[in-house]
Amino acid sequence: MTTTYDDGDIDTNPTLNPHLGDLIEVRYSRRQTLMGGLSAATAAVFGGMLLAGCGSDDDGVNPVTVTATAGGSSAAGRVATLTGSAIGQVDSVTWTQTAGPTVELAGAMTSAATFVVPGAATGTILTFAFTATSAGKTTAATASVTVGAAALGFTAVTKSLADAVAVPAGYSVTVLYRLGDPIAAGVAAYANDGTDVNFARRAGDHHDGMSYFGLSAAGAPDPNGNTRGLLVLNHENITQAYLHPAGPTTAGGARPEAEALKEMECHGVSVIEATKATAWSYVPASSFNRRITPLTPMSFSGPVRGDAILRTAYSTDATAGRGTINNCANGTMPWHTYLTNEENWAGYFRRDTGDAAVRSASGAVGAKANASLTRYGIPENRPGNYGWSTVTTADAASTLYRRWNITAGAASQADGSGDFRNEAFQFGWVVEIDPFDPASTPRKRTALGRMNHEGCQIGRTIAGVRPAFYMGDDAQNEYIYKFVSATPWAAADATAANRLAIGDKYLDTGTLYVARFNADGSGEWLALVFGEGPLTAANAAYPFGSQADVLTNARLAADALGATRMDRPEWTAVNPATGEMYCTLTNNSSRTPTTTNASNPRAYTDPKKPQGDLVNADPPTTAQATRGNANGHVIRLRETGDTSEALGFAWDVYAFGSGSDLDATNINLSGLDATNDFSSPDGLWFGLPSNASGTVSPVMWIETDDGAYTDVTNCMLLACIPGSVGDGSTRVVNNTLTTAANVTTTSTVTTRIGKSPGATLRRFLVGPKECEITGIHSTPDGRSLFVNVQHPGENGGPANITSSWPANQAGAVAAPSRPRSATIVITKDDGGVVGL
Ligand code: FEO
Ligand code: CA
Ligand code: CA
Ligand code: CA
Repeated sequence: MTTTYDDGDIDTNPTLNPHLGDLIEVRYSRRQTLMGGLSAATAAVFGGMLLAGCGSDDDGVNPVTVTATAGGSSAAGRVATLTGSAIGQVDSVTWTQTAGPTVELAGAMTSAATFVVPGAATGTILTFAFTATSAGKTTAATASVTVGAAALGFTAVTKSLADAVAVPAGYSVTVLYRLGDPIAAGVAAYANDGTDVNFARRAGDHHDGMSYFGLSAAGAPDPNGNTRGLLVLNHENITQAYLHPAGPTTAGGARPEAEALKEMECHGVSVIEATKATAWSYVPASSFNRRITPLTPMSFSGPVRGDAILRTAYSTDATAGRGTINNCANGTMPWHTYLTNEENWAGYFRRDTGDAAVRSASGAVGAKANASLTRYGIPENRPGNYGWSTVTTADAASTLYRRWNITAGAASQADGSGDFRNEAFQFGWVVEIDPFDPASTPRKRTALGRMNHEGCQIGRTIAGVRPAFYMGDDAQNEYIYKFVSATPWAAADATAANRLAIGDKYLDTGTLYVARFNADGSGEWLALVFGEGPLTAANAAYPFGSQADVLTNARLAADALGATRMDRPEWTAVNPATGEMYCTLTNNSSRTPTTTNASNPRAYTDPKKPQGDLVNADPPTTAQATRGNANGHVIRLRETGDTSEALGFAWDVYAFGSGSDLDATNINLSGLDATNDFSSPDGLWFGLPSNASGTVSPVMWIETDDGAYTDVTNCMLLACIPGSVGDGSTRVVNNTLTTAANVTTTSTVTTRIGKSPGATLRRFLVGPKECEITGIHSTPDGRSLFVNVQHPGENGGPANITSSWPANQAGAVAAPSRPRSATIVITKDDGGVVGL
């Protein structure tokens, strides 16, 4: 393109028709002004200079002179501007980068280019040339930007009980993918009145963990795919009331088949293609779109594959199963697969009274199964969530419904091949999905153990070093685990075509460990290896018979090893710059002063405020108070020698959740204030190392799933730039807790706490009513942040709609609209990295 500039564009040249000699004089005087007039600090951030223009008027073309300056922001992740001017008869101008880490220039063929400052080390200099072309001759000037440290770049969002997603000024929200949205051609638009069917071709409910995978034009993984990708997300659970016209049918004791099928299909995982034109949208008929549900065929991998404990009437060789359920958080593998994790699966199974006796009668195997079912929370005399096993189907051969009843048939073979007594052992695993191959069969990775899997975060990958995978078991007083692969990392595996084969390589063989946190700030990883320590047939509480037995009963093995009972381990996240691992401990209502320890040091009462009191003016009441570790905390650890293979670590607590009004000495230990107080941390994620939010000073995102502070605010998303293990001190906590029965106990605990976060922790988003904020990932460039809003209005129903989100995100709706879990995309209006 040709751009002609007139003299009036700029203010550096006072002459209208200069002679060459005048130009040179002006140039040099300006350079002297530039070099002499800027302070050292300013000059270190932005630089610019005039270069001698070589245009001359001896060929009849006026001489051209150019200037180049940099402005905007120089902080990592923010938008820098490059402004050029050219005086004379100019045919074209262009900005090109001449030094420093490569950035993508927007408007490179104009006088005003912009770029996002990369996450390079502070002080790194990027240099750009502004070149004007006139009659085939070029004239250039340069400008430079010196990278400044990443810092949070938004004003904190205030706590809110409004029915809307609120983000900071300068940010925008796009609703992308809602419960019921069609994902295949020919599927009707969602009526949202309870009549919709075919959820195997629609978005499921309760959006949870989520990963974005860049997608190339050829349909392959693209690590730089910032405008086209596959979004993979979990559908953890359902808000049953809204899925049917007038709520669920329960009369008569048997659930209608169509209702049960819909409810099942609303669980599982979505894979959808998403694209960005001016705004983000998903592609309703993409060939990549896929729903994985509790009906989808799965195969078992790893040490438990083929073990008798997985044998069912569906898979008599114990190698296959159907579906995945209650998929909570996720894992994003560097070889471009997705891990989905089975969390509260136990509740879905029916177990009738008498089952234990039938199992025990079959001998030691049955007795061990009874012990295991008890430890994993499946006692007798329970109907199973949603009563799916009660369905009577016209297809007599179908086992889709009776599989949810694990009661052992007295007349069935004791080995489980004739019924579904072992169906519950097929759940509680980490499941690997190849999102790029819709025909692929997901693999349940049994080497990572069986528990209430929250998420599975891989640590840093370093060539030649065995990678670690960090996992929380989310139930009260459960444990934190890591799996260390037997296979040292090889970078070429990140681009392999057979992605599930790479998963086999890293995820099927290795060692599972559980964490013990010591009071002195040290910790140990205890190996769950059959035959070692107490993990033998001689273990009195549960005689272990094999490595498959140890993995299937990881909780029982961890009990025997003396792991530390934590306050509900939720997500794990690894700082990409330091390798330090963070884990949310969401809350623990069963923690009492007598069971506190250094790493779970608080047990107290969090009173409810009078309804609607946002200013804490009234004295709190103890009615409906939350007791125990009511608000949760975020623990972190640094592996010994900073290696994923370590057997020991150092730990401290990054931050303790608390209302800012609570006791600063014993509860609000991190000194939270109105800009950053939070409760029940759950989702946890670091920005990607491919952009400034995951590079030198990575941003960590904290999402809440709260019931304790919801008298004051809806759930939220916070951003922080954390320090590192050991940047704080020890702290003595005095606990006093009075139970509802008026029994008071106390304890004094010394814990280890990180530096108070202050302004480096800030509230970024508040969600709509009765929601949980969960699932978070971004494009590689960090400029589009995907977030899930789960179960808005979950306490209502068709006759009592308590949230109309997301229908009301654009403005109030005339009549209540059934709420829908949904994925949103957040972008910064100036195009910078979200959060910075
Ligand atoms: Fe599905 Fe532990 O949250
Ligand atoms: Ca969760
Ligand atoms: Ca939770
Ligand atoms: Ca939830």
